[in-house]
Amino acid sequence: MIDLPEPPAPDGSVLARTLLIGMCGTDREIAADGYGVPPPGEERLVLGHESLAEVIEAPEASGFAPGDLIAGVVRRPDPLPCPACAADEWDMCQTGDFVELGIKERHGYGSERFRLDPRFAVRLEPGLGDLGVLLEPTSVLAKALEHAERIGARAWFDPRVALITGAGPIGLLAALLARQRGLDTHVVDLVTEGAKPRLVADLGAHYHSTPVAELPLEPDIVIECTGVGEVVIDATHLAAPGAVVALTGISHSERAGEAYLDALNKDLVLGNKVVFGTVNAARRHYDQAADALAAADPGWLARLITRRLPRENWPAGLEKGPEDIKVVVDMTASTSEHESRVASAGRPEGKPT
Ligand code: BGC
Repeated sequence: MIDLPEPPAPDGSVLARTLLIGMCGTDREIAADGYGVPPPGEERLVLGHESLAEVIEAPEASGFAPGDLIAGVVRRPDPLPCPACAADEWDMCQTGDFVELGIKERHGYGSERFRLDPRFAVRLEPGLGDLGVLLEPTSVLAKALEHAERIGARAWFDPRVALITGAGPIGLLAALLARQRGLDTHVVDLVTEGAKPRLVADLGAHYHSTPVAELPLEPDIVIECTGVGEVVIDATHLAAPGAVVALTGISHSERAGEAYLDALNKDLVLGNKVVFGTVNAARRHYDQAADALAAADPGWLARLITRRLPRENWPAGLEKGPEDIKVVVDMTASTSEHESRVASAGRPEGKPT
C-alpha cells in the first residue's frame, strides 16, 4: 500500500469512498504475468476493477447524492472515439485504444477515494449493501446473455436449455442470469461436492461433474466460462441446431491439444450454430446487471463472497483456495478495525459475510 494524492478533479464530478474491491483472475494475471499496463509515464498500476463505493460529493445535476451506493464502469471509450465507443459500446471498441481502470493504462478503484464522471457510475439498490461488489462481474454475463439472445434472434429462436461450463464466480453468475430468464439451466465443473454444487442446486439449476461430451443435453445457449479449448469444442458439438455459444473465458495453458477443426466447421455449418467471443460490458449491461442483482436472493449472492480481507492483507486475495468463489478486500478498515467489526458481527474472518 502506498500514499497517493487526492483523486484529481478532472477524473470527474462524483467523489466516492471505496468500500469493497473484488478480486478476480485478471488481478492474478496482472500481479503474476504482467497482463496489466500502468498509466503512461508511471511504474505502478492501482488495482481494482470490481468496485463498490459510497458517494461523498456529487453535483445535483449528476443525478447522484451523498450516501448513494455505486460501482464504477471498467472501460473508458477510446479518445477518437471509434464508432462503437461513440455509441457507448466501448466494450466493442474498434481501435483497441480504450483504457480499463485497474487493468490497462488507468488506475483502478483500489484507493480509499476516487472520482468519476457520472456517466461511468452505476447506482445500486441500497439494500444490496456489500453484495453490490458483484456488479462488475455480473455486467460481463449480462452482456454475454444479451448478445447470445440478439444473435439467436437472427432466425427463429426459442431457447429453453442453457449450459454453463465452469462453476467459478463467472459461471455461477451466468447460471443466476439464465435462471432469471426461466431457462432450464445446467452447470458443469470438475468438483463433485462442496459449495458450488449446492449453489447451483439452490438456483433451481442442475449440477454435473461428467465430461461435457457425455452430458445428456442439447443446449440452445452455452455460456463457456473455462477458456479451455477442448471444453469449447465439446460444448459446441453438444449444442442444439441453431444454438449460440458465448465464450467468456481465456486460459493460458501451454497444452497444444489436437483440435478437429474440420469437425467443428461441419458442426457449425450443418447445425447453423454460432460461437462468439465476449469481453467487458457496455453501460446498458451494467444497468441490466444492477437489476439482476436487485432481483436475486441476497442470501444466495452472499454465499458467493467466500473471503473478506482487510486492506493490508489484500495480496492474500491473489491466492485462490479450493473453496473460494469471490474474495473481496475491505477498503474502509485497517486490520484492527476490521477484526473488531468481524468479531462484533459474530463471524470469524474468512467466513461468508
Ligand atoms: C474484466 C473486464 C475486462 C477484461 C479484460 C475482465 O476481468 O471484468 O471488464 O474488459 O478483464 O481486461
